[in-house]
Amino acid sequence: MSDPSPITDQAVSDAKAAALAAVNASSTLAELKAARSAHVGDGSPLAKLNGELRNVPADQKAAAGRLVGESRAAVSRAFEAREAELSAVEEAAQLAAEAVDVTAVPRRWSPGARHPLNLLMERIGDIFIGMGWEIAEGPELEHEWFNFDALNTDGDHPARSEQDTFFVEPTSSRLVLRSQTSPVQIRSLLTRDLPVYVVAPGKVFRKDELDTTHTPVFHQVEGIAIDRGLTMAHLRGTLEHFARIMFGDGAKIRLRPNFFPFTEPSAEMDVWQPNAKGGARWIEWGGCGMVNRNVLRAAGIDPDEYQGFAFGMGIERTLMFRNELKDMRDMVEGDIRFSQQFGMVV
Ligand code: DAH
Repeated sequence: MSDPSPITDQAVSDAKAAALAAVNASSTLAELKAARSAHVGDGSPLAKLNGELRNVPADQKAAAGRLVGESRAAVSRAFEAREAELSAVEEAAQLAAEAVDVTAVPRRWSPGARHPLNLLMERIGDIFIGMGWEIAEGPELEHEWFNFDALNTDGDHPARSEQDTFFVEPTSSRLVLRSQTSPVQIRSLLTRDLPVYVVAPGKVFRKDELDTTHTPVFHQVEGIAIDRGLTMAHLRGTLEHFARIMFGDGAKIRLRPNFFPFTEPSAEMDVWQPNAKGGARWIEWGGCGMVNRNVLRAAGIDPDEYQGFAFGMGIERTLMFRNELKDMRDMVEGDIRFSQQFGMVV
């Protein structure tokens, strides 16, 4: 009598039941793969039973073979069916995760907007370049000699007082935060060949409180033209051309006598703004005049041979008049919504 075969109905059906339970318990392809190797792979109970077939006596072999074979086939079908099911689920999930909504509204990323004061200074530069002038620059930390002395400004002139000007310590350095762009006149005359036609837009500093019409840091544009035979008529024509581009075709200039140390004669310049919201009006726009002979001498120029005119105006005021702005603080606070109204969003 041979040993009783380990291939019993009970053993086969237990192995099959365990395999099918593992199939059902698998909820991902990875789990299913692990279950397959545990229940179908080498060393699994079903594989072992299959291996036992070779020891089964010949007369029982067919029955035992069928028993094991059917169970293995059933388990294998169950794995395949579950694999198809789980693949479909995982593929659908992957497609959903990778879906691109081509109709989605793109998010606009707006890092900022150019400041209207910079835009206006560039516009002004362009106007003068269009007339053949050049752009000049000077330092914001300036020597007193350029800011005052060379501009014919006496030591006791009120503009030189501690009240108006930021002096930089140590005072022996004689450095100031420039209180006007006029020192660029001197720098241009010292570094350029004659004739000179330059505009210099830039920052200036004065001890003013920030309020609706003042700010301690503001901008001016300076202009200076030195050539043979320049007269006040050239000054007027240049400024009127500038004013028309800034304030519209109907703009005109009016000069009122005034005093500046660096010009003689000097004038306060008003502009007729034809398109102002509340109706046409005169506005005070800046200062101007014929360059003082002392200024020409300070720059080593013979005033009998060369003459010229100069002017300077505030950029903030110009922007306020052009755009009917009421509060200068809007220009310094840096709220991007203010700048965006002027366009040039970058
Ligand atoms: N620098 C003067 C100021 O800040 C403005 C000015 C007046 C500039 C007359 C000039 C000029 O060039 O000729 O008030």
